[in-house]
Amino acid sequence: MRKKLMAGNWKMNKLISELSLFFNDFAKDLKLQKGSKIENVDIVFAVPFLQLAEAKKLAEPYGFEIAAQNVHFEPSGAFTGEISIGMLKEIGIMKTLVGHSERRQFFGETDESVAKKVSVCLKSGITPIACVGETKEERVSGKTENVLTAQMMAIMNMIDNPTGLVIAYEPVWAIGTGLTATDDQAAEAHRFIRKLIRDKYGSLADELRILYGGSAKPSNIAGLLSKQDIDGGLVGGASLAPSDFASMVRSAM
Ligand code: PGA
Repeated sequence: MRKKLMAGNWKMNKLISELSLFFNDFAKDLKLQKGSKIENVDIVFAVPFLQLAEAKKLAEPYGFEIAAQNVHFEPSGAFTGEISIGMLKEIGIMKTLVGHSERRQFFGETDESVAKKVSVCLKSGITPIACVGETKEERVSGKTENVLTAQMMAIMNMIDNPTGLVIAYEPVWAIGTGLTATDDQAAEAHRFIRKLIRDKYGSLADELRILYGGSAKPSNIAGLLSKQDIDGGLVGGASLAPSDFASMVRSAM
């Protein structure tokens, strides 16, 4: 039985000075005290690098985990503006998004760089939440499965054992647009991704969590989570408001 995972992706939002109020309100909405924890759902927030340390301090007492939004695949060196796995680990950050479509679209990430990052994360004991998904043109021209196959194969060709990997299926046309994939469209893509994983790793595929992302919100999350292969959400806009995200976490509980 896969434990549900609800991850907020804050993107380039929120100041350090706003964190305390957010986590207090979010915990209050979920009726959580410090030292208590929601047992049947993992709750993660992927926050900007500068917010990681403070967010961790404020979120951990309630059992929420903090993740980075990106990481470099080299351990150190002349990579101005980048952050290494060692730097994340030094402050106790053990999860990161990898290959979000905004990184692919605006910052030149490729299937190859994403695969390298996933591979070094797994080797270093960091949980990568690797994002895949097709654009609108790719979907309308019937190429969704080809794109997902290429993105997944790039990753799978670089790893022997996928244990610990989390996949986020995020159709690019649904991200930040208000257009959510229907429950059935999402379920079909998730089933397809799990089949690709099963073809390579057998029954290990049944242990990996596949999250849905793309305009997920309180009004549509329950339907998405009711589908067999959807193990949680990667939530952008709706994770910025404590009450919205708390309501989505309740749907996963
Ligand atoms: P959205 O973003 O929920 O605002 O569509 C999801 C994401 O990009 O992870």
